[in-house]
Amino acid sequence: MANGSILYPLLVVCLLVSSSFQSLHRHDGDSEMPFLTLGMDKSFHGCDQNLELKEASCSNKDLDTVPQNLSEDTEVLDLFKNNITKLLNSSFEVYPLINTLDISYNDVRTIESATFYPLKGLMDLDLSANSRLVLPATGVFMMSSRLSILVLASLNLESLPNDILKWIPNLDVADLTSNQLSFINVSSCGMVDSVLLTGNLLQHLTASDFTFSCHTVTLDLRYNHIQSVDPGVIASLHVRSLYLGGYPLSDKVWANIILGISRSDIEQLTILEGSIGAFPKGFFDPLRDSSLSVLDFFNNELQSLRPLVFSNLTKLRELRFRYNQLPIDEIQPDFFEGMNALKVLTIHDNRLTILSLANNRLTRLNQSTFKPIFSSISSLDLSKNPIDCNCDLKWLIDWLNEHIRLKEKDKTICSSASLEPLRQKPLLDFEPNELCIINYGLFSLIPLASISLVVISVLLYHYRWQLRYKLFLLKLAVLGYKEMRDARDHNDYEFDVTIIFYDDDEEWIREQLRPALEERLPQFQRNVFGDEDLVLGMHYLDSVDYVVSHSYKTIIVLSRAAVRDHWFILKFRTTMDHVSDTLTEFVVVVFLEDIPDDEMPFLARLYLSDGRPYIHWTENVIGQQYFWVELTKNLTINLRTNDLIPNE
Ligand SMILES: *[C@@H]1O[C@H](CO)[C@@H](O)[C@H](O)[C@H]1NC(C)=O
Ligand SMILES: *[C@@H]1O[C@H](CO)[C@@H](O)[C@H](O)[C@H]1NC(C)=O
Ligand SMILES: *[C@@H]1O[C@H](CO)[C@@H](O)[C@H](O)[C@H]1NC(C)=O
Ligand SMILES: *[C@@H]1O[C@H](CO)[C@@H](O)[C@H](O)[C@H]1NC(C)=O
Ligand SMILES: *[C@@H]1O[C@H](CO)[C@@H](O)[C@H](O)[C@H]1NC(C)=O
Ligand SMILES: *[C@@H]1O[C@H](CO)[C@@H](O)[C@H](O)[C@H]1NC(C)=O
Repeated sequence: MANGSILYPLLVVCLLVSSSFQSLHRHDGDSEMPFLTLGMDKSFHGCDQNLELKEASCSNKDLDTVPQNLSEDTEVLDLFKNNITKLLNSSFEVYPLINTLDISYNDVRTIESATFYPLKGLMDLDLSANSRLVLPATGVFMMSSRLSILVLASLNLESLPNDILKWIPNLDVADLTSNQLSFINVSSCGMVDSVLLTGNLLQHLTASDFTFSCHTVTLDLRYNHIQSVDPGVIASLHVRSLYLGGYPLSDKVWANIILGISRSDIEQLTILEGSIGAFPKGFFDPLRDSSLSVLDFFNNELQSLRPLVFSNLTKLRELRFRYNQLPIDEIQPDFFEGMNALKVLTIHDNRLTILSLANNRLTRLNQSTFKPIFSSISSLDLSKNPIDCNCDLKWLIDWLNEHIRLKEKDKTICSSASLEPLRQKPLLDFEPNELCIINYGLFSLIPLASISLVVISVLLYHYRWQLRYKLFLLKLAVLGYKEMRDARDHNDYEFDVTIIFYDDDEEWIREQLRPALEERLPQFQRNVFGDEDLVLGMHYLDSVDYVVSHSYKTIIVLSRAAVRDHWFILKFRTTMDHVSDTLTEFVVVVFLEDIPDDEMPFLARLYLSDGRPYIHWTENVIGQQYFWVELTKNLTINLRTNDLIPNE
C-alpha cells in the first residue's frame, strides 16, 4: 500500500458523499433490472435489446433455446449463462446480421452442421464452457470466413474436426484451452495469429499425434504433459513464437525441442511457469546460429546459470528472465560471450541486489533502461566501461547519492568523450549540480568522438500499444477456466464500480461512460465516480484505498494527461496493490488515447506486461460497439489473476 502521508498537503478535493452510495436495490442475482433506460426495450424472455446499437443481451435468463423474436437486425447477441442444449440449423436464420455471438456457459451438447451458415458476417464466436458439447464432424465453419475470434475453451473436446479452421483465412485467436485433446490433426489451415492449446492432454509431438499446419504467430502448448517429441515435427511448424511450460519436461524432450527449433523458423521461445530450474550443460548449443531471436524464461525457478550456457547464440536479440530466483551476481561478463546480437536482457524480479555491468563497452547509460530496477538493486558495478560523463547522466549521480552504492569506484572512469574536466576521472568526481547548470551549453557542443556501442540495455519493456481488442478478448477467453472465477458477485461488495479518472477526462465519463453504464448495467447502482464520490472525512489516499477495496470492479481511465499526474499514478498504484493482495482481476484499464511509449509510466507498463485486462476507446462506431460489449462483460465477472495467457 502506498503511504501517502508525505504527499498529503495537496488534498483539496471536494469530498462529497453522493446519493449513489445508497443502495437503492439490493437483491440476489441480477435478473431483475431496477429500471429501464432510453433505447432499451425490455423484451420477451427478459432479453435486453438496444435497438440503436443492434445488440441483444440475454445473459442469465434461463433460456433453453435461442430466442426467435428479437430484432432481426441484431448484430451482437449475448446468450452467456443460459440453459441452451441444442443449436439447430434454424437457430440463427432470423438473425443473419450477427457478427458477435456469445453462447458460453450453457449446456450445448449438439450443434447441427449448418447452424452458423446463415451468419456470413460472424466475427466473434464464444462457445466456451459447454462441457458436454460434441462438434459436428465436418463443415461447421464452412460459411464463417470472416471469423476472427473463435473461443472453444473448456468443452472437454477429445478431438477436433480436421477441417475446423479450413475455411477461416484470417483468424486472430483460436482458443482451445482446457479441453481433453490428446492429438491434433489440423492439416488444412490458413493464418491464425494465436492458437492456444494450453491445458490439454497432448503427450506426443510426433507425426502421428501432432499435425498442425497453421501459419501462426503464437502457438501456446503450456500445461500439456509432453512425453515425446520428434524434432522434425517442431522443425516443420510455421510458428513464430512457441510457448512451453507448466509441467517439468524430461531432458530428452527438451533436447528434441531445442533440436527442432534449431531447424525451424521459430523466432521466439517462451518457457513459462515453473518448469525449469537449471539448464544441463550444452543445452542451447544446437541453437547456435539458428533464427531464434528471443528466449524468455518468465516465471521459472532458475537459481543459477551455468557459465557459457548461452554462448554463441549469435542471433539472439533478447534474453528475458523475469520472475526467477537468479542472484544477479551470476551474470558475469563472460556470460555474454558470443551473443553478438543481444540488445535486451530482462532480469528484474529476480533476487537482484548487485547489478554488475563491468567491462561491457557501455558508453551511454539511459535512465529509462535502469528505472524499473532502481528499487531492487543496492549496488552497481559499472567499472571498466568507457562511460560518457555528461549532463545527461545527472540521474545516475543522483541515484548514487541515494541508496545505490557504486562498486569498484576507482575503476569506474569517465571516457575521453566526457565533459572536459571529467575525462579520465572517476565517475564519482562528477558533480552535475556544479558543472551542468553553468557549463551545459558549452560542453554539450563537444562532439562525441567515440563510437557509442551499447551492447546491453538491462531492461526494456518493449510493447506495441496498438489498438488491439485481441489481448483483451484473450483474457476474457479465460472464462474457460471455470475454477478461476471469483464466486462473489457485486452484491457482496459495498460498491459496484469505482471509476478512477483524471479531471480532464471528466467529459468522457459524463457523456460516454455514465450513460453506458446506466444503460447496460442498471443493477450497478452504487458506483464511485472519481474523487467527487470519495468517502467523506478520510485522508485522500486512504479514501481511494477504501473504495477500491470495497468495490466489485474498478475502472482506471488512462489518458496522456492522466499518466502525467502524480496523484493519479498513486491511485493507480493503490489499486494495483489490491490486485496483488487479493489475486483478483477486478481492474480494467481503459485507454482513452494512444499513449506513446516514452510517456507510459512504469506502472502502466507493468500492468500491461502482466497481461492484465485493458481496452481501448476508439472513435470508430463499430469499435465502440465492441468496446461496450467487452467492458460490460468484463464488469460482470471477476477472475482470479493468472498468468496463463501469454502477454504478447
Ligand atoms: C438448467 O436446467 C436444469 C434442468 O433442466 C435446471 O436444474 C437448472 O437450474 C437450469 N440452470 C439454469 C442456470 O437455469
Ligand atoms: C416470443 O417468443 C416466446 C417463446 O419463444 C413467446 O412466449 C412470446 O410470446 C413471443 N413474443 C412475441 C411478441 O412474439
Ligand atoms: C442441417 O444442415 C445440414 C447441412 O446442410 C444437413 O446435412 C442436415 O441434415 C441439417 N439438419 C437437419 C436436422 O435438417
Ligand atoms: C489428418 O487428417 C487427414 C484428413 O482427414 C488425413 O488424411 C490424415 O491421414 C490425418 N493425419 C493423421 C496423422 O491422422
Ligand atoms: C563460441 O564460438 C567460438 C568461435 O567459434 C569458439 O571458439 C568458442 O569455443 C565457442 N564457445 C563455446 C562456449 O562453445
Ligand atoms: C532512452 O531510451 C528511451 C526508450 O528506449 C528512448 O526513447 C530515449 O530516446 C533514450 N534516451 C537517450 C538519451 O538515448
